[in-house]
Amino acid sequence: VLVTAGPTREPIDPVRYISNRSSGKMGYALAAAAAARGATVTLVTGPTELSSPPRATVVKVETAQEMRQAVLAEFAGADVVIKAAAVADYRPQTAATQKIKKRADNLTLALTKNPDILAELGALKSGQLLVGFAAETEDLLAHAGEKLARKNLDLIVANDVTLAGAGFGADTNIVKLLYPGGRVEELPLMAKEALADVILDKIGDLLAKKH
Ligand code: C5P
Repeated sequence: VLVTAGPTREPIDPVRYISNRSSGKMGYALAAAAAARGATVTLVTGPTELSSPPRATVVKVETAQEMRQAVLAEFAGADVVIKAAAVADYRPQTAATQKIKKRADNLTLALTKNPDILAELGALKSGQLLVGFAAETEDLLAHAGEKLARKNLDLIVANDVTLAGAGFGADTNIVKLLYPGGRVEELPLMAKEALADVILDKIGDLLAKKH
């Protein structure tokens, strides 16, 4: 089982970066729960405050491009891939080699799109079960459903990050599970550890159906 977690950091200059509020808790809970069930787990993680889950191989990365390299290196050997990482959609076009000095009143950063790792895996997949996450602030089901189809996923975990007790940084989450074909399961508010177990149960059902 290959799990990604946490934010990425996209360098602006040697001392600054663009990132997001992902804590990594959901991905770490998934990695720990999968290892507890006996899976061989690799966790590819952006920078977080969390301690490594027991019995998982941990690969630490910073940028989306590093995460992509690490994930592609593990993909062929994986049966299940769970992409809980909040990958930065854009990175500074160039990272300044020296610290940017404070001069003009306005400063414009040119950004360029990062590779969509999960979409790439969806196009490459040859039997791997692919699970994505969608953090949305509006039209949750429509946006998550679109990502499920476009990225060729077997399951997407959709959360409305505007709800209290859901999303970035929280210890709990409130999600809907979407499957190809349009099936939707709504789950109540639960601890991220409990949700990790539910997600792994659902993955187990999907694997059983496949074989
Ligand atoms: O950013 P977006 O909402 O499209 O993220 C949905 C899913 O795609 C998540 O599982 C995330 O980990 C993955 N993703 C990715 N590479 C990106 C952006 C998102 O793997 N550049």
